[in-house]
Amino acid sequence: MLLAGQKVVVVGGSSGIGLSTAEFAKKEGADVVIASRNRERLTSAAERIGAKPVVADITSDESIAALFKGCGVVDHVVVTAAQLRSGPFKTVPMEDVRATMESKFWGCWRVARSAEIRNGGSLTLVSGYLSIRPRPNSAIVGAANGAIESLARSLALDLAPVRVNAVSPGIIDTPIRAAMPEASRKEMLAKTAAALPVGRVGLGEDIARQILAFMANGFATGSVVYIDGGALVS
Ligand SMILES: NC(=O)c1ccc[n+]([C@@H]2O[C@H](COP(=O)([O-])OP(=O)(O)OC[C@H]3O[C@@H](n4cnc5c(N)ncnc54)[C@H](OP(=O)(O)O)[C@@H]3O)[C@@H](O)[C@H]2O)c1
Repeated sequence: MLLAGQKVVVVGGSSGIGLSTAEFAKKEGADVVIASRNRERLTSAAERIGAKPVVADITSDESIAALFKGCGVVDHVVVTAAQLRSGPFKTVPMEDVRATMESKFWGCWRVARSAEIRNGGSLTLVSGYLSIRPRPNSAIVGAANGAIESLARSLALDLAPVRVNAVSPGIIDTPIRAAMPEASRKEMLAKTAAALPVGRVGLGEDIARQILAFMANGFATGSVVYIDGGALVS
């Protein structure tokens, strides 16, 4: 098993990409902590995969400091938590764009500051392909993703010998779009799938595989890997 006896913390581990990552890490023999805000969803996910749940909010310095104080030194940390609010550039409320940076970018920053990762262990940040393939009405998400990719490269130096990498997903079918009307969600996913060389949208496990590879490959640091079903070449 790739991660036997190792300790892995997934911030945002109760759903989607984070939950798939936690599940894979568990199957590879790791002790896994998953953290997020909604206690009910967190506890039920943790029970299902055999992880330890810790309620935490990535937008709070104190909450993230307390999470990692409780964890002690760990082997690998993954950040998938984010709440994204975007909209037309000229009218999207400043409150919304600030909230996006607060969870997605500053969340990664907070985790990187608070986590105690052993030498040679890893921190993996999750950005998103809008960083280099922008779409209308999502400038703040593209900017946050780009900032995360730059942060991962910088932290590969500042936190060395801890390894720091980023994975940048394309469209992945997770509960992140739960607020969309079901018919529009399905239509969007079907259109995206039809336009991609792989002929389908991603699953949480497609990104989790890359995150596990970052954990296990001791030569990987400062890398940004785009896993998007070919979105960047189509
Ligand atoms: N799905 C995609 O198509 C896609 C594409 C590109 C990039 N990404 C990125 O991939 C990452 C994971 O997305 P996903 O699709 O797996 O989303 P998801 O299924 O909605 O999962 C998000 C997780 O983050 C947690 N979370 C949200 N806000 C939090 C906060 N303030 N503090 C702590 N935990 C928080 C959620 O739990 P609680 O709400 O209970 O806290 C949940 O566990 C995000 O950064 C997203 O931007 C996703």
